[in-house]
Order: sequence, then C-alpha cells, then structure tokens
Amino acid sequence: MNKAVRKAVIAGNWKMNKTPSETTALIGEMKPLVKDADCDVVLCVPFIDIPAAIEAAKGSNIKIGAENVHFKASGAYTGEVSADMLKEAGVEYVVIGHSERRTYFGETDQTVNLRSLAALNAGLKAIICVGETLEQRELGYTETILKFQTKMALTNVTKEQLKNVIIAYEPVWAIGTGVTATADQADEGNGFVRAAIAEAYGADVAETVTIQYGGSMNAGNADELVSKVNVDGGLIGGASLKAVDFSKIVAAASK
Ligand code: PGA
Repeated sequence: MNKAVRKAVIAGNWKMNKTPSETTALIGEMKPLVKDADCDVVLCVPFIDIPAAIEAAKGSNIKIGAENVHFKASGAYTGEVSADMLKEAGVEYVVIGHSERRTYFGETDQTVNLRSLAALNAGLKAIICVGETLEQRELGYTETILKFQTKMALTNVTKEQLKNVIIAYEPVWAIGTGVTATADQADEGNGFVRAAIAEAYGADVAETVTIQYGGSMNAGNADELVSKVNVDGGLIGGASLKAVDFSKIVAAASK
C-alpha cells in the first residue's frame, strides 16, 4: 500500500450467501471488530440483503455495496437492477465484472464497461474486477490480459470519474480455490493494472487509483499481500463471511 497517495480499501464480496436476517447478525458482529479501521471498509452483499445491511451498518464505518448493476436506466430487463435503484437504496459501491459473472453469466469487456459507466454516472463507486485465467498466465499473457481488460473497462471514463473507480486484480485461478497469488505475483499484477491506467490517464493519475488484490486473501496472508506497494487492500470472498477473519484483514490494511 502507499497510503500517502491513495486509499486502502478492504471490501467483502458475499456472493450468493446470507439471508437478510443473517446479514443483520453478521454485520452486528463485525461492527465492533472493524470500528478502528484505518482503511475504508465495504461489504458488497446480494441485492435482497441491501436494506438489512444498510440498517445494520448505520452509525458505523462499514459502507454497503452491491455485487452487480445493469447498464440501462430502466425498462424491460427482467431480473435486473439499475444504478439509480441502488443509489436510492443507500448503496455506495458496486462490484462490476467479477470473474464469476464473466464465466457463468456472459459478462464481456463491453458490458463491464457499460455497467461501469452506468454506476459512475449515478454517483456510485465502481469496484471493477480484472484477472487472467491459469491458461492465459501459463501462456505468458497475464500483462496483456490485465492491460486490455483494464483499458476496456475504463473506455469513456473521465479523469474525474476515475476518482470513483477501484480496480480489483483477481487472478481467476486464485478465486475460491485456496490458492493465493504470492505477494510478488499480486504486486506484479496490480502493477500491470496501474501501468495500463498510466498509459490511458498519465502516471500521476495512476498513482492515485486504489488497486485491490482478490483471490483467497485471508487472515493469514493479508499482512504480506498489503505490504506490497501496489496492493491497496483487497476484495475478499470466503473470509468476508466470518467476522473475526474479515476484521483481521481490515487490521492488516490498517497498519
Ligand atoms: P475468495 O473470493 O476470497 O473466496 O477467493 C474473492 C472474490 O471472488 O472476490
């Protein structure tokens, strides 16, 4: 992390876990454990859990995010949720382009870009996920893929809007597998993302952008990961469902 020039952000991604009542209970457990955080703390939860999460997090330093957003403002898009709906519900962040959406739900670099623009235009903060598959890494395309995905996601995003963008580097092979990237691999991947932002917006701007690492980040490896200069926090899946584990990651990013 380089807290002198950019924010450290620890964000939980609950995926398809927790009912509304379980949401209330888990956030109630987390609140006292993360209250002294010296980083931003975000929980991205299923749509149906958002009202409960916002209520439970009231008066605390926990901010609430969604896990997806549609790119149209309204209309015949059954099952989708717009940026304005999220904004009015009190959501501040939204995860966009998670690899599970890219793999299982047909998300493309184009739709990631459209969703990002919709979120940013509505005043939401976008946590945009990029990452290479194991096959792409083994073929030596990690840098190419990360730069391409980053630039595609940020097409038509203004310098001003970039202030509300967080990029999460999540190697697909590390998500939910228990295989974490080494701290050096995370730092290198985040560095490729930063270089892509520098190519598009200039090096000074790129230095200010928060770039998280995600993929089996946990209470045991968070310290080492966030000790790297390019790792400005994390996007946490499994470990964000356990209050104590999540708070340890927050503590690591608060040092
Ligand atoms: P994981 O998930 O921490 O369970 O690997 C990370 C993510 O998918 O954002």
